[in-house]
Amino acid sequence: MQIKGSVALVTGANRGLGKAFVQALLAAGAAKVYAAARDPTTLEAQANVVPIKLDVTRPEDIAAATEQAHDLTLLINNAGISGEAHDSISLETLRHEFETNAVAPLAISLAFAPILAANGGGAIVNMHSALSWINLPTTVTYSASKAAAWSLTNGLRLRLASQGTLVVGVHVAFVDTDMTRAIEGVPKANPHDVVQRALDGVANDQPEVLADETSQQLKQNLSNGIYLRPIS
Ligand SMILES: NC(=O)c1ccc[n+]([C@@H]2O[C@H](COP(=O)([O-])OP(=O)(O)OC[C@H]3O[C@@H](n4cnc5c(N)ncnc54)[C@H](OP(=O)(O)O)[C@@H]3O)[C@@H](O)[C@H]2O)c1
Repeated sequence: MQIKGSVALVTGANRGLGKAFVQALLAAGAAKVYAAARDPTTLEAQANVVPIKLDVTRPEDIAAATEQAHDLTLLINNAGISGEAHDSISLETLRHEFETNAVAPLAISLAFAPILAANGGGAIVNMHSALSWINLPTTVTYSASKAAAWSLTNGLRLRLASQGTLVVGVHVAFVDTDMTRAIEGVPKANPHDVVQRALDGVANDQPEVLADETSQQLKQNLSNGIYLRPIS
């Protein structure tokens, strides 16, 4: 699918990867970008960008977004959370991460699916993680939410194939954003490189984008049972 001329919506567009998506879409010639954020006052005003108030966990916000963005051709489910690392596993964090990272992208995709169909099929991009495939002692609930998101993406891809909607899952390990600010001593991908690879995937009709070397290596090692052992 061509990015040039597309009408995109990016969730969590006010910072991190979401903000980088907005810039990359404009640079690639998107006709309009709906920049969605919980607090639209945190969004940068710029030409061809329409701010939208969207808490991805609020059905009323999702319904209002579909009322406004009836011209959408490219949905980017980027918003996500990673709960604080706890000494013990928090069920409250698990529920919050599942609502935000797994339920919300599906809910938004289902809400926009008829609009994408009416506009020629279009595409949906879902931000997963290398942690969709493996778990760590410090990311037990986050990894589970990203595994669920990955599986939901795979099901959604099959469901929406008949209406011509491309569904792209993006996997990446650490990226240099607020989410990883407290993590030191690990390589972090540049957010601009990650979103460029994701948009290249859309342009080339790829169902899956492995946006860094770590995610590529992890996927190759799944058949060796890498997810059964601690990662050094
Ligand atoms: N950074 C990494 O290492 C990494 C690696 C793999 C995958 N990812 C995934 O990539 C995506 C973007 O991550 P990031 O690194 O850019 O994270 P970030 O810097 O922490 O930004 C998270 C974004 O999500 C938004 N958000 C959170 N909950 C929301 C809600 N209920 N409704 C609407 N927006 C909400 C935040 O908005 P507020 O400003 O309102 O909080 C913010 O814009 C996430 O899905 C994340 O899991 C990140």
